[in-house]
Amino acid sequence: MDLFAEIEKKSKLVDEGIETYLPVTHPEELYKATRYLPDAGGKRLRPSVLMFAAEAVGGDSKSVIPAAVAVELVHNFTLIHDDIMDSDDIRRGMPALHVKWGDAGAILAGDTLYSRAFEILSGMDVDKERLIKCIQLLSRTCTEICEGQWLDIEFEDRDDVTEDEYLEMITKKTSVLYGAAAKMGGLLGGASEEVTSALYDFGLLIGVSFQIHDDVLDLITPEDVLGKVRGSDLMEGKKTLIAIHALNNGVKLDIFGKGNATKEQIDKAVSVLEESGSLPYARNLAESYLKEGKDRLNVLEDSEAKQALLEITDYMLSRKY
Ligand code: IPE
Ligand code: IPE
Ligand code: MG
Ligand code: MG
Ligand code: MG
Repeated sequence: MDLFAEIEKKSKLVDEGIETYLPVTHPEELYKATRYLPDAGGKRLRPSVLMFAAEAVGGDSKSVIPAAVAVELVHNFTLIHDDIMDSDDIRRGMPALHVKWGDAGAILAGDTLYSRAFEILSGMDVDKERLIKCIQLLSRTCTEICEGQWLDIEFEDRDDVTEDEYLEMITKKTSVLYGAAAKMGGLLGGASEEVTSALYDFGLLIGVSFQIHDDVLDLITPEDVLGKVRGSDLMEGKKTLIAIHALNNGVKLDIFGKGNATKEQIDKAVSVLEESGSLPYARNLAESYLKEGKDRLNVLEDSEAKQALLEITDYMLSRKY
């Protein structure tokens, strides 16, 4: 199986879904702003997970397109608000939404994506009981994302954040959406309670490894490849696993939390973090969460879609951006 060809096919369905369910209407500039980030691309990992999960339990990926679109729109909403919160000016290789439309425009475009996601999801013509479960799950997920993002910001001002607190924070801000994507695919694909709950745990575990890896990439991927501001977490004083390890081991990072840094200063910090073992520590933990997550898929019978879920999970840690 060619994973990237499979993701490409799923992405095409999602893109068509976005065209259908999020047309540019009045006020035109608001809708242009809401379409700006979805149209800029992105890896489309969450809707792909949702569709592969639906197929892996015997469902059909075309019939779950609205749910996949809803999950991708929720993700895009969180990115728009996240860039305001993190003072980041680049996203998906383009100026962030708040740079182009200002904070008010970005807040509203994000809110529109968020509410539209639920309009699209709740309008699905599927088994009502399963649909209600999906709506409850996605709404609960959005609340948890806000909790996680709150903790992320709160931790900037603390030097004693523990690894457990970090894991709670990233589970909420990032993993729950992977859990929701995998479980919604299972629910809409007709899976049993045992299978949908295993899919949720799968999503949570791979989401943790995904976010730890995102924190690594923030440091090591060149900006033109990353499509985001490199070193943003360092400059903002984010309590990533890498930073927590460094703080616990008395590693000195001059630029940490200072708001800005040169490319050379970031490069220097990265070599310090490699040598202190902080980056290797994070890579190892990400690896072990990934393995645990994949084990949760043992409940599924073998299929191409299950294989795709396993491979997309590997890609989450091998990706360079
Ligand atoms: C970035 O997610 C936000 C995080 C939760 C770390 P992705 O890396 O999946 O972003 P896109 O959708 O591909 O742009
Ligand atoms: C973002 O975490 C999580 C959400 C958007 C909910 P980050 O702040 O690390 O994401 P990036 O690196 O800006 O994409
Ligand atoms: Mg950010
Ligand atoms: Mg953030
Ligand atoms: Mg990041």
